Amino acid sequence: MKKTILVIDACVRREESRTKKLLDAALDTVRKEHPDWNLEILHLMDLDLMYWKTETLRERDELLAKKEYDAPVFKYGNQFREADGMIIAAPFWDLSVPAVLKVYIENVSAEGITFGCNEEGLYGLCKAKWMLFLTTRGGIWADSDMEQGSTYMEALCKFFGIDEYACVYADGIDIQELDGEEILREAIDETKTVCSRLCAE
Ligand SMILES: Cc1cc2nc3c(=O)[nH]c(=O)nc-3n(C[C@H](O)[C@H](O)[C@H](O)COP(=O)(O)O)c2cc1C
Repeated sequence: MKKTILVIDACVRREESRTKKLLDAALDTVRKEHPDWNLEILHLMDLDLMYWKTETLRERDELLAKKEYDAPVFKYGNQFREADGMIIAAPFWDLSVPAVLKVYIENVSAEGITFGCNEEGLYGLCKAKWMLFLTTRGGIWADSDMEQGSTYMEALCKFFGIDEYACVYADGIDIQELDGEEILREAIDETKTVCSRLCAE
């Protein structure tokens, strides 16, 4: 079945970014194995995303109260809800993800758009079966409880009702004693394997 994959590129350093190399490997895999699938690619650095301010948040909440879900402000949220799968690429910054990705999340997260609420609490509205998060980290953080990038994306995945979460990371890429290129090569191979598996589901 033809699917739509939403690709969220938060690689701030663009072509210099090593995280972008993982993303390129994932995109190559999807294009090769599912040439008919629709890839919707958002380069976050090229979008005019803005975090909520007092007035813009008030305006958004008024639209939500009126259930005007087709308003332009919900464009990214509606797109996020409808995707069949998601690939997100972001470097590890300040123990988490770059602010531009957080701002994007602010823009998609809205009651009635990407999550709902009933007597039992909040539930996700997103259709995606899986989210693949790709990241590279200067130091080694995989087993640390201070790592707030992948853990944040995994929590969002649950919150938005996306069934499966997978993360491929290249850890320790800036540690001089380690072979950064080899670490990246291994992560690229793993990205291809994991991406292929998710797309086959
Ligand atoms: C603004 C900024 C913040 C960073 N914060 C961390 C950090 O908290 N921990 C860490 O291990 N590396 C940190 N790094 C290093 C990056 O995680 C690492 O260089 C990563 O591979 C960058 O990915 P890129 O090549 O895709 O830009 C930071 C780098 C930058 C530019």
